[in-house]
Amino acid sequence: SKLFVSEHPLIQSKMAMLRDAETGAKEFREIIGEVAMLLSYEATRDLPLKEVQVQTPVDVAQCRTIDTKLAIVPILRAGIGMTEGLLRLMPTAKIGHIGLYRDPNTLLPVEYYCKLPADVEERTVFLTDPMLATGGTAEAAIGFLKDKGVKKIIFLCILAAPEGVKKIQEAHPDVDIYAAAYDKCLNDHGYIVPGLGDAGDRIFG
Ligand code: PRP
Repeated sequence: SKLFVSEHPLIQSKMAMLRDAETGAKEFREIIGEVAMLLSYEATRDLPLKEVQVQTPVDVAQCRTIDTKLAIVPILRAGIGMTEGLLRLMPTAKIGHIGLYRDPNTLLPVEYYCKLPADVEERTVFLTDPMLATGGTAEAAIGFLKDKGVKKIIFLCILAAPEGVKKIQEAHPDVDIYAAAYDKCLNDHGYIVPGLGDAGDRIFG
């Protein structure tokens, strides 16, 4: 699978604000949404297209439109902060939710909720979570989607750590990862370093 890390100046500048410990919850929430929107522009680049004819006021134009149904699936809690941003560019996408928390002692993901669109297996799924740390959470969420028959999954995160990227690339080589930044490591508590802190706490308090 491919790891795409955006070098876009808008994303870079917004990341500087997100990382800043002085940035408050209101601003943090807004910027997460903006970065998610910009990242979804990058992550939709390879979607399949179909030919359509459009009647303009002047003539018939040969156009192309997206040839797949879409779904956005945030991983609770923090992934919710990215949903609105993706919806801005993909307003017809259906939305599912997967609830997983990371046990603070074992760092292993624990499932507590899973509700997906009925026809999710026919959709290209954009799975969102701001943080890809050990990768346990994303690995499990991708596993749920595959169990439901989903064929095409694209993972969007704000920050990725090498450990998490490696885990996804090994467990799910068919899933591409789009990140706004790629950090150097995890600390003993499984936090991304230098990171931006706990995204869920900074969004929801
Ligand atoms: C954080 C984050 C990811 C997960 C990443 O969630 O939002 O879901 O940890 O860690 P991993 O890659 O090591 O699995 P957390 O457990 O803090 O839950 P929350 O989103 O509900 O705050």
